[in-house]
Amino acid sequence: MKGIILAGGSGTRLRPLTKVTSKQLLPIYDKPMIFYPLETLLKAGIKDILIIVAPDHAGDFLKLLGSGQEFGCKFTYEIQDKPDGLAQAFIIGQNFIGNDSVTLILGDNLFEDDFSDAIRSFKSGGRIFAKEVTDPERFGVVEFDDQRRALSIVEKPTEPKSNYAVTGLYIYDSTVVEKVKNLQPSARGELEITDLNNVYLQEGSLDVAFVEGKWLDTGTFESLFEAIVFARDRSRAA
Ligand code: TTP
Repeated sequence: MKGIILAGGSGTRLRPLTKVTSKQLLPIYDKPMIFYPLETLLKAGIKDILIIVAPDHAGDFLKLLGSGQEFGCKFTYEIQDKPDGLAQAFIIGQNFIGNDSVTLILGDNLFEDDFSDAIRSFKSGGRIFAKEVTDPERFGVVEFDDQRRALSIVEKPTEPKSNYAVTGLYIYDSTVVEKVKNLQPSARGELEITDLNNVYLQEGSLDVAFVEGKWLDTGTFESLFEAIVFARDRSRAA
């Protein structure tokens, strides 16, 4: 299993904080944001990690993270020239992925859960993780039947069919690269991970699991603040 941390994007909702640095380098209490998704991958036993960054602050990521030796893993770096969507990570990472399965984590997502079992037991297809939220319209939303089988996934619906958001950790087999190559950009011009998940869903090979612990997407001031408080409380409790 390989890992990808997607840490590009433009972070427009966090301006002016992101005017001179990247969102994923901002502090979350005592560590840069990207350390949290990195720790999630390391905890799950993933040691071969591709870090995808935007051109502007690429050097800062290299300076912060280096070769990976300090973390007991190996880092590879790629640049995403433009924020053309989450699913583009698999095209950028195609040589890195090769014939292996891959776990993608978003560089601004904090998880409390340990994904070791979910990753170890993964064989093929896709596995995504849903979490009940109060503001599903901000996310990809999963609709379930009465047996909790996923029926559809809709990106940022105005009328969500459930309160279950798709979180920022995704596991796929190596067919992900070809699947993304066959996607068309959405109306907002992005290769959508929701479209990719729907390809796996239609193929009957998408497993929707659930996040049990805390999950935070730190893209807004409110959620950034919440993440900082959470990280402080956890650090004090440790
Ligand atoms: P978003 O929060 O959806 O986008 P953003 O970071 O550009 O922020 P904003 O909407 O405020 O402008 O992205 C989620 C994560 O994915 C975040 O870590 C950035 C990353 N990302 C990429 O690396 N490349 C992309 O093309 C996109 C859309 C996001």
